[in-house]
This record gives sequence, C-alpha cells and structure tokens, in this order.
Amino acid sequence: MKKKLIAGNWKMNGSLEANASLVRSIQGGLDAAQCHIAICVPTPYLAQVKDLIAGGNIELASQDVSAHAYGAYTGEVSAQMLREFGVRYSLVGHSERRQYHGETDATVAIKAQCALAAGITPIVCVGETLEERESGRTEDVVRRQLAAVIHANGHCISEIVVAYEPVWAIGTGRTATPEQAQQVHAVLRAQLQAATVHAERVSILYGGSMNAANAEQLLAQVDIDGGLVGGASLKAQDFLAIIHAAR
Ligand code: PGA
Repeated sequence: MKKKLIAGNWKMNGSLEANASLVRSIQGGLDAAQCHIAICVPTPYLAQVKDLIAGGNIELASQDVSAHAYGAYTGEVSAQMLREFGVRYSLVGHSERRQYHGETDATVAIKAQCALAAGITPIVCVGETLEERESGRTEDVVRRQLAAVIHANGHCISEIVVAYEPVWAIGTGRTATPEQAQQVHAVLRAQLQAATVHAERVSILYGGSMNAANAEQLLAQVDIDGGLVGGASLKAQDFLAIIHAAR
C-alpha cells in the first residue's frame, strides 16, 4: 500500500515567530511518521521554513505557482524559483484561487505543467460548490476540472497528486461524509485509470474541514490517500493527530 500524504495548507497565515514555534511543535511530536508530510507555506516564508525543516521528515510546498516560466509577470513566482527554495509540492487550482483570482481549468492545467517541468509535484485541487452539489453536478464538475489537467499533461499525469476539496466543506466545519468523499474519489480514480496505466500511483487527497476527530474515518476509505488540511494544520496538536491517523 502506498504511503499516505498529509499536506497542511497554512493559507495566508503565519509570522516568522509563529512559523518557528509551529514547525518546532510539529517536529517535536513526530515519531517515525509512517506517512509523507508537507506544509504549504506563504511564499515569503519558504526560505525560513526550508531551514526549519532541514534534515527532517517534513517537505516544503507552495500554495500556488505561476503559469509562466519567467519574464514580465509582476508579482508572479515561477516553478523554477520555487524549486530553488526546495519546494517539493505546489498546490494548483485551490478553490480560493479559482474563486478570488479567476483561475480557469486551462490556467490550472498549465500551472500543473509548469510545476512538473521544474520537478515539483502539483497537488491539483478540484471540487464542487454547494449549488453544484445540490443540482446533482458534482461528478461532472470534478471530471471537467481533472480532464483539463489530464489533457495538458499527457503521460506525466501519473506524477501528479489530486486533492478533492468540496468548496462547501472548506473552512466551514462541514465535512463530506467518508462515503460522499469516497464516491467522488472513486470517480476521479476511474478517470485517471482511463488516462494512464499508472493511476494507482496517483495519491488522491481529501480536503475540507478535515480534523483530528474525522481524519481516521476519511483516511480509511479505499481511494482516500491522504489529506489537504487547512485550519487544523495551524495547530500542532491537531495536525499531529491527523498525521498519526494516517499510518
Ligand atoms: P480547511 O481547508 O481544512 O480549513 O477546510 C482546506 C483547504 O482549503 O485546503
């Protein structure tokens, strides 16, 4: 069985002082962790967190990556730059990027391509809004979002990580039930299987109000290979409990 991946998404939170204390507390509570662990930190803190986690079991991740390699794109950060700072994973297409920054399926697909080209594993986020779920369109929406990435990335698709994050569950305390999540994960797995013979290699994470209390049941589902954790990743004890549930 492949190792699970627990990725913490700090979003736009943190400070030099708070980051140091959070990372030290997480490290202090890790015993020989059986799962992969990553933290997606705000860009200015990549260098700090790279040093804090050096030599340990936690890997560095960014929350976004530019769809361009270099050039006149003020404010953007390229995959190659992220790689220089030891970034191993990059979120792409998080629903907050799609919602507040107008990222389309096509942009997300190019971002995944840029990350892969620089040796960074993109964590491609997909998920439906409440209105889409209530109108019975969940599967169509996530399939459309993933299809764009499959189309742009061809045989490299087995190198990505997918995160299913129902938008209505993000930061709301309202989690998909393990059955609801598994149902969508199975759809995504089948779609990957149709695209590559190596679909089993692709980790499909669940995200959306994952916490210490619900992680174990979610992670027990056959197609749930880990978690993308927002709020609970900012509290060392909660993040550690999720990591321990992922053995
Ligand atoms: P949440 O966020 O765990 O706070 O719901 C998850 C995410 O947005 O990645």
